[in-house]
Amino acid sequence: IFPSLLFGQEFIPNYDESKVPDYQLPDPLVFENGEKVSSPEDWEKKRVETLRYFETEVYGISPAWDGEIKAEIITELLNALGGKAERREVKLTLQRNGKEVDLYVLIYLPKIEQAAPVILGLNFYGNHTLSDDPTIRVTDAWIRNNETYGATDHKASEKGRGLRRENWAVEEAINRGYGIATLYYGELDPDFDDGFENGVHALYQEERNESSWGAVGAWAWGLSRVMDYLETLDDVDAAKVAVLGHSRLGKAALWAGATDTRFALVISNNSGCGGAALSRRNYGETVGRINRAFPHWFAKRFDHYSENETALPIDQHQLIALMAPRPVYIASGVDDRWADPKGEFLSGLYANPVYQLFGKTGMPENKQPAVDQPVMGEIGYHVRSGGHGMLPYDMHQYFNFADKHW
Ligand code: GCU
Repeated sequence: IFPSLLFGQEFIPNYDESKVPDYQLPDPLVFENGEKVSSPEDWEKKRVETLRYFETEVYGISPAWDGEIKAEIITELLNALGGKAERREVKLTLQRNGKEVDLYVLIYLPKIEQAAPVILGLNFYGNHTLSDDPTIRVTDAWIRNNETYGATDHKASEKGRGLRRENWAVEEAINRGYGIATLYYGELDPDFDDGFENGVHALYQEERNESSWGAVGAWAWGLSRVMDYLETLDDVDAAKVAVLGHSRLGKAALWAGATDTRFALVISNNSGCGGAALSRRNYGETVGRINRAFPHWFAKRFDHYSENETALPIDQHQLIALMAPRPVYIASGVDDRWADPKGEFLSGLYANPVYQLFGKTGMPENKQPAVDQPVMGEIGYHVRSGGHGMLPYDMHQYFNFADKHW
């Protein structure tokens, strides 16, 4: 028996631009009742309407936080990276309803006079993969198996130490005056379909419905909890915290930026379907395919739009618009066709009317730029050579983008 038959029909992605269906996107500046949005004040109302749709139909509704966060520094190096940085690992314990979840946040801060701007993002394989530093803890949370990064039997190991150092460009960050804060995403919600019983979902025992939060919602919500903590630190400039994520964690970064306007800048690296890419284009990964492969990522309601994208009351350009007027960067890889680079670009472009309402340009080009030619308005974009991944090249553009706006 062919394995694909076990899951019903085999999925064949469309990579032919001429087979992209004709589609009409919802106008981000028209209210449900047909009235036009014509001022920033109107947008505040339209924003609520838009956000509500993303909550009920796509990511699910994440609960308001009414618990306690305890913070404990577990290790600290006052002279990390050749003395240029301070490095801490902080255990955050989220307590609610008699339950607890521990998160371990790795923080590098440049030694500068003023409070540092920080780039916050979830990582895939554990904090210890960002540095050779042997004192960084190896997570004991469930992890997806990955030989290369030393994850076997769903446990992280020493073998992964330092292997993602280049990708996070911590040295460049520090040299340019940025801090980096990161945590392993599986501590927030292990990435498998567990019926929403573990991770931060366990802090809430409400009855679930079709619009309850999934894993992407939990990861995004967790980024907000880390933000709660960063706000308490004197050496972090909480008005300059960017949220960053790659791939599924890019979807989470965008959702965090949409739901939590304390994130002053938002970065999506190859976020693809359910992230920056337009759902209606049907290029590469589709809504149907993502819901079948990852039934725990989104609200159950999202499955209603599988092979039925035209019924969506919103599309992903409106997710980008939820960042307005804050800066947002969308990055693609030219060979990462699964994530639909053009669809990622277009969602930025079609968010422009909302930025223009604020007297901003948004995406400065109306055609997808050439490979390795970043463009930066309030919306930044590049399509880098190569495929799926977060590379030093990408990070380099994000620092440039943050420099430009901060
Ligand atoms: C899969 C999935 C994508 C996701 C990616 C990742 O390829 O289909 O939606 O972005 O994994 O997280 O690496």
